[in-house]
Amino acid sequence: LKYWVIIPAAGVGKRMQASCPKQYLPLGSGTILQQTLNIFLDNEQFSGVLLLLSPEDEYFTGLNIRNPKLMIANGGKERCDSVLNGLQQLSILADDDDWVLVHDAARPCLSDQDLQKLLDALPESDGAILAAPVMDTIKQATNQNAAEIDKTVDRSMLWRALTPQAFRVGQLRQALTQALQQKITVTDDASAMEAAGYSVKLVSGRSDNIKITSPEDLDLAQWILEKRLS
Ligand code: C5P
Repeated sequence: LKYWVIIPAAGVGKRMQASCPKQYLPLGSGTILQQTLNIFLDNEQFSGVLLLLSPEDEYFTGLNIRNPKLMIANGGKERCDSVLNGLQQLSILADDDDWVLVHDAARPCLSDQDLQKLLDALPESDGAILAAPVMDTIKQATNQNAAEIDKTVDRSMLWRALTPQAFRVGQLRQALTQALQQKITVTDDASAMEAAGYSVKLVSGRSDNIKITSPEDLDLAQWILEKRLS
């Protein structure tokens, strides 16, 4: 039984308002993407890391990353299309029963401890995700333009879905294919597994495993990584 990693990095990162896709912004001694990749490339438990890039990507080759464990494939229109492309490519090498971890390129602050915690939760399960309990009070708006509060939502059972999210290669491929066919909105991989009837474990992870989305997140990520090194 092997462990594989899929890193979707084919987004444009519009909300970052940067001149290049956000994963190529500098962070620590490299870029966001390099920090994220190193977490998995440096870990001997993984047989291979498949990175999904936009077919129009102009920046990756400039990073000069060479690692026998790293593979590249094209991403798709939405994140779920990118992951499904990745799973189809991976199926050439992987068995359907192997585990695959899907991790956003934009989450470079994943700690080795959380990663191990997720792997330890996998035996005897349909899959597991890192998640953090919701700490803020959550308001539901009266409409999508968020003009007014309709009500306060009970947060006692709410979790924020983080990545990595880990599933069996074959089951995730099937679940995502089905979700796309049924036009179910899937903003993460667990959504597709839930819709297909699997039970997915919540593994409590650190809330500093942030997804870099807006410019202020980049400063925060820099600080989180520096603090961890010191
Ligand atoms: O846009 P967002 O931050 O939610 O994207 C999460 C991850 O999915 C990012 O790493 C992004 O590059 C990736 N993505 C992708 N293919 C897309 C859209 C997003 O691989 N079509």
